[in-house]
Amino acid sequence: MARRSSERPTTRRAPSAWPTTGLSYGGDYNPEQWAPEVWREDVRLMREAGVNIVTLGVFSWGLLEPRQGEYDWGWFDEVIGLLHDSGIAIDLATPTAAPPSWLLHEHPEILPVDADGVREQPGGRLGWCASSPVFREHALRITTALAERYGDHPAVRLWHVSNELGGGNARCYCEVTAARFREWLRAEYGTVEAVNAAWGTAFWGHTFTDLDHIEPPRREQHKVNPGLFLDFERFSSDELLGHYLAEAAVLRAHSEAPVTTNFMVGSGRHVVDYSDWARHVDVVANDHYTIVNDPVREQDLAFAADRMRGLTADRTPWLLMEHSTGAPSWQQRNRAKAPGEILRNALAHVARGSDGAMFFQWRASTAGAEQFHSAMLPHAGTESRVWREIVQLGDALRRLRGVAGSPVEPAKVALLVDEESAWALQQGLKPHRALRYTRETRLWHRVFWQRQVLVDVLPVDADLDGYDLVVLPTLFVVSDAQAARIEAFVRDGGTALVTYLSGVVDGTGRVRGGGYPGAFRDLLGITTEEFRPLQEGETVRLSDGGEVTDWTEDTNLHGAEAVVAYADGNSAGRAAVARHAVGEGAAWYVAAQLPLGSAERIADRLIDELGLPRAVEASSGIEAVRRRTPDGDVLFLVNHSDADETVAVSGQSLLDDASFDGKAVVPAGGVVVLREGAAE
Ligand code: GAL
Ligand code: ZN
Repeated sequence: MARRSSERPTTRRAPSAWPTTGLSYGGDYNPEQWAPEVWREDVRLMREAGVNIVTLGVFSWGLLEPRQGEYDWGWFDEVIGLLHDSGIAIDLATPTAAPPSWLLHEHPEILPVDADGVREQPGGRLGWCASSPVFREHALRITTALAERYGDHPAVRLWHVSNELGGGNARCYCEVTAARFREWLRAEYGTVEAVNAAWGTAFWGHTFTDLDHIEPPRREQHKVNPGLFLDFERFSSDELLGHYLAEAAVLRAHSEAPVTTNFMVGSGRHVVDYSDWARHVDVVANDHYTIVNDPVREQDLAFAADRMRGLTADRTPWLLMEHSTGAPSWQQRNRAKAPGEILRNALAHVARGSDGAMFFQWRASTAGAEQFHSAMLPHAGTESRVWREIVQLGDALRRLRGVAGSPVEPAKVALLVDEESAWALQQGLKPHRALRYTRETRLWHRVFWQRQVLVDVLPVDADLDGYDLVVLPTLFVVSDAQAARIEAFVRDGGTALVTYLSGVVDGTGRVRGGGYPGAFRDLLGITTEEFRPLQEGETVRLSDGGEVTDWTEDTNLHGAEAVVAYADGNSAGRAAVARHAVGEGAAWYVAAQLPLGSAERIADRLIDELGLPRAVEASSGIEAVRRRTPDGDVLFLVNHSDADETVAVSGQSLLDDASFDGKAVVPAGGVVVLREGAAE
């Protein structure tokens, strides 16, 4: 099926300049909460901390346009002037994440409707339906007014479209959206017959006689036709992207500054198709928050950062738009960061290609929904550990300004992530409804992260030239063309590692017959005749000593050789992991949900056989990444363990005056950044 993403040309503009000189440091600034005297203290303290950019205006619509068409720019002019006079750049947000109360009052029809048909209430965020022409008109009016007024302002160095599009309005099931969905289907398929054929609607007697009879998948989503479900997800992502593009077009017509919007790449749900969206932002930007019950939260951070780099053009710098100085307030038990963790987290993002580290938010709110969210300037004020660490981080980023603009060293491992597979795997009457897509993507990233092997997390259609290994974790939805590209990669000498439930359905969500893993059967030299999901508490032993939970398969070898076999249970004796030599390369299949130890053994063998480069040889607590600057390589060493670690390196510390002659001690929980070379 023709994928709509490939049909829409990129609108990305090469940014004429990065918004700041050196690395970007700052956060969301919401001055409307404070009196003007406080703004003066804010800019003074921003300078003290080394802040060089703030995101302004995210929630300001209601105050900038208190009544339709009546603008109040005075206070905003003053804030912008203060920032500009202090040399602080502005990432100016269109305020459309926060529709004003008068708009929601006059047009409640713009509020999204949930799958049960209940309309949202005012009082939250992103309370608008992306298909609403009424909302679009108002949003573009305030965007135009803002762009006309500040489009040429020298302090405006970046545009920030709305905020976390889809975070709050990811899906809408209203009648306006339903009509737009039908238009989308008409454009995609042409006729109702083509829709019926693609979705296989003959089953359960769901054949449509008219495109206008098609409804969004409301309620009981697990019983919805998988093709309908997948297309509604694609449509919803496109619809939100359409909103971004409409605002971006207005901004670009009035300003030369680059345009971005903040993505939400992390361990949460896949809200929209960022593989597609990334082609339309001038600066790829992310908001990342560590999750308290994630046992390896620093790896989630690294995974998200590696994905952001994978979404840039040619692995160029991206921007960490938001993270936190401590506890957020939207989790169950909000965790404060440990001493030193602010620096460790921020520099891990920078190591992986972020040209800056920004936070939500500058000054902690005393009122409003997020009054207990941490900030750069906490409730306690400057007499606090957080403030001291914020000043220290500002100093560190200034010392590291030489890495700005430089690429991260090229990775030899690519890991493919696909929103469509994530959506499809977690919907409907599937063999095992508790499987989590991110469990597999994280597992295969983790085993390399712990071994200091850099992984680029890429969209499925990304160029694979230059990589030695490509990992496809549960890549459920695969088109023929995508499968052919992986096969060509292997024939040319690459190695592919494909895990269970990959290649099972085509782009319309239809199962490929003839044995799983359908699209990759020939490449892998193996077929699965039956899936064998495990019950809660059930385990199966493996020949390598590991124990499988959740997922096993009845495999048959057709040219591949077993690497690990099932040692007991109903699949005993069959291959759980197999390797197939193909052309110049090899294709591995993992038919089981492996425990960490088994995945680590495979990673060790691949590192060894393929000679995959480790940034340094160190224990698993050390994260290590290089950036390539014109003045030589800069090596970041982050110690996640609670013991000091010694690493064999030489060079000059960039964070202080130390030099290293053959070894560096990275203190427990600490960070060392050095320019490599002979010690001075
Ligand atoms: C982000 C959002 C911010 C703030 C933050 C709190 O998702 O963009 O505005 O709410 O969460 O963690
Ligand atoms: Zn709607």
